[in-house]
Order: sequence, then structure tokens, then C-alpha cells
Amino acid sequence: MAVESKFDPKDMVFRHLGPTGLKVSVLSLGGWLTYGGTQKGNVVKDCMEAAWNHGINFFDTAEVYSNGQCEIEMGQAFKELAWPRDEYVLSTKVFFGTGRKEPNTRGLSRKHVVEGLKSSLQRLQQPYVDIVLAHRPDVGTPMKEIVEGFTQCIRNLNLAYYWGTSEWSAVQIMEATQIAERYNLIAPIAEQPQYNAFHRQRFEVEYAPLFEQFQYGTTIWSPLASGLLTGKYNDGIPEDSRFATNKSFFESTIKSLQTEEGKAKIAKVRKLTEIAEKLGGSVASLALAWCVKNENVSTVILGATKVQQIEENCKALGLLPKLTPELMEEIEKVLDNKPAPPPSFGRQR
Ligand SMILES: NC(=O)c1ccc[n+]([C@@H]2O[C@H](COP(=O)([O-])OP(=O)(O)OC[C@H]3O[C@@H](n4cnc5c(N)ncnc54)[C@H](OP(=O)(O)O)[C@@H]3O)[C@@H](O)[C@H]2O)c1
Repeated sequence: MAVESKFDPKDMVFRHLGPTGLKVSVLSLGGWLTYGGTQKGNVVKDCMEAAWNHGINFFDTAEVYSNGQCEIEMGQAFKELAWPRDEYVLSTKVFFGTGRKEPNTRGLSRKHVVEGLKSSLQRLQQPYVDIVLAHRPDVGTPMKEIVEGFTQCIRNLNLAYYWGTSEWSAVQIMEATQIAERYNLIAPIAEQPQYNAFHRQRFEVEYAPLFEQFQYGTTIWSPLASGLLTGKYNDGIPEDSRFATNKSFFESTIKSLQTEEGKAKIAKVRKLTEIAEKLGGSVASLALAWCVKNENVSTVILGATKVQQIEENCKALGLLPKLTPELMEEIEKVLDNKPAPPPSFGRQR
């Protein structure tokens, strides 16, 4: 039976996810704190549909998001939207479990990797995800068992096509890759790290060898530093914003805004806003375009509580061609936080 295509890429840009043949839109959509958390029902579907209508083909969730409720909400939306399964890319993450306390319902033992993913798929109402990620490293499980667990999900159980890491050190990613090579197992292909204009060191310095040696992919999170880079926190905490609706989780972040460092960040957001306005965009879209500009970023995962935020954030693509080397330099001067590369003692190639 012929499948009717439902996806229109519009002016979206696509990149290979690391060394794979899989192509992901440079903007994607995730559900941390939002879907199944503060947002339920139609708004979830509306946000996903708005993203799709802008050419976004990649969606991200995790077993732990709202203790499984995010997968349930996003799964229901996928069902109702009824997009052909080969037109979108879906990732979930295992490690933190869904809030249960039993010893084997979290971590990266082979048991939890397989059982956790199976439970995620049930909540998502999906036979497989495209990518399953290890949401954190597990120092309590031998690395060989971790790599075997993910290999089993892909090779034996057909529950996923690829696996990746999230907030692993470069050393841990190298170890997993080398074990996969040595034992004919499947190596991880992408990392999900935090990366934004205020959080750069690990991505730009520690991971540099991973990009060079393995073309390791990245699906980056909190590109707007949870909203700080939209300017919405410049003059306090708006009532319906993330810092207000998740007050206890963000307690230390909220306090830090009163420190000299916090005030300096807000001052930078104000200066970036001036640059964005000169370019005809918002500071949020500029901050997102700045992330996309880095070619080691495979996709920037957006978070959104409202359709309107997706509409605005997708304007980042229009700003991309305006990010000339001179403009990037101007932004660099405002940020004043470029991480130094490790010393090369004059031996760089
Ligand atoms: N692997 C990991 O450990 C990890 C960790 C965190 C996230 N993630 C993934 O990354 C995704 C994105 O992270 P994130 O949600 O922290 O991204 P973010 O872009 O830094 O923050 C998104 C939040 O900022 C606010 N916002 C977004 N656009 C806005 C706009 N134009 N104007 C005003 N406010 C705006 C919204 O919150 P309010 O409207 O509530 O203020 C939105 O939910 C997550 O959904 C998840 O899939 C992964």
C-alpha cells in the first residue's frame, strides 16, 4: 500500500547524526519538565505539530521525564498525529528509572537497559525508538556489560537502531567505543550534553577529540539555559515561567541570579538582545542560531511550553546566514567566556 508523505521539510537544515547515515533536523523538540509535567493533552500535540510543520523531524524524551508521563503524553500525540513512522526520528533515555526505589529499576545493568527500554516503548506505544541513550554513566556497572546491553537492544531485540550517551565524560565515551571495537559490539554514536552560550567548556574542549576521531554526534540540551537566554528573567521571575513552575528544582539557579555572576549573565543577555534586534530577531533565536552555527552540534533540542515559543525559536534558522565571522566575534566579545584549548606546546597540526 502506498504511504502518503506527511512531512514537508520547508527551509529546515538537516545534519547527519554523527557518523551514521541518519539525518536529523538541526532543531528538534524535547519534553523535559514540559510534556507530562506542566503541559498535558492537546498542547503537547499542538507543540509537536507546530515543530513538525517547521520541518522538525526529531523528538526526544526519557523514562524519567515526569516519571514516565512525558513518554505517555508524547506517545499519545504521535498516535493521534499519525505521521508515517519512517518520517520522524525518536529518542528516549534510560538510567534514572521512573521514580521507583527498587535496586534494579534504574542504572545501566543489562537488566535495566533492556527492561527500562521495553517499558519506555510501552508508554510511547511504539515498537522501537531510533536512538536509545544512556542518560548518565553508571559507575556501578562494568562498561562491557553496558555496551552489551545496548548492543542487545539493537542487534537482538530490534528495540532501537542506535545508542548514545548523555553527560558522559570523553574518557567514558572512548572506553565504550574501544570495548565495542574489541568485542564486536555496537559503539555509541552521539552524546546528549548541555550546550549553550553560558555552558561551553565540556562541549568545546573535552569533547573535541571525540568529534575529530569518531565524528561523534551531539543532540544538545538547554540551548536557552532553561529560558535565561530569552531575556524573560532579566527583571525577575514571571509567574508562568519554568523557574516559577519548578521552583524547588531551580532553587540554586534562582539564587545565583542575585550573585555578581548571575547579574553579569543578565547583563550579557541584554547586550545580546541589542545584537539580535539589529539582525531583526529575538535574543532567543540568536542564542539558538549561535548553537546551530557550531558544526559539531547535530541538533539543538528545543523545549517549549507553548506553540508560540516554537514559532519564535524556529526563526533561528533565518538568522543563521547572518552569523558572519565578524558577528560571531562581536558575540564572543559580549560572552567573554570562550574556553581555552588545552596547551599544545607549539605542537598543534
Ligand atoms: N540529557 C539530559 O540530561 C537533558 C537534560 C535536560 C534537557 N534535555 C533535553 O533537551 C530538551 C531541551 O532542554 P530545555 O527544555 O532545558 O531547553 P531550553 O531551550 O533551554 O529551555 C526551554 C524552556 O524555555 C522557555 N522558552 C523556550 N522558548 C522560549 C521563548 N521563545 N520565549 C520565552 N520562553 C521560552 C520555556 O519554558 P517556560 O515557558 O516554562 O518558561 C521552555 O520550556 C529537553 O526537552 C530534553 O529533551 C536533556
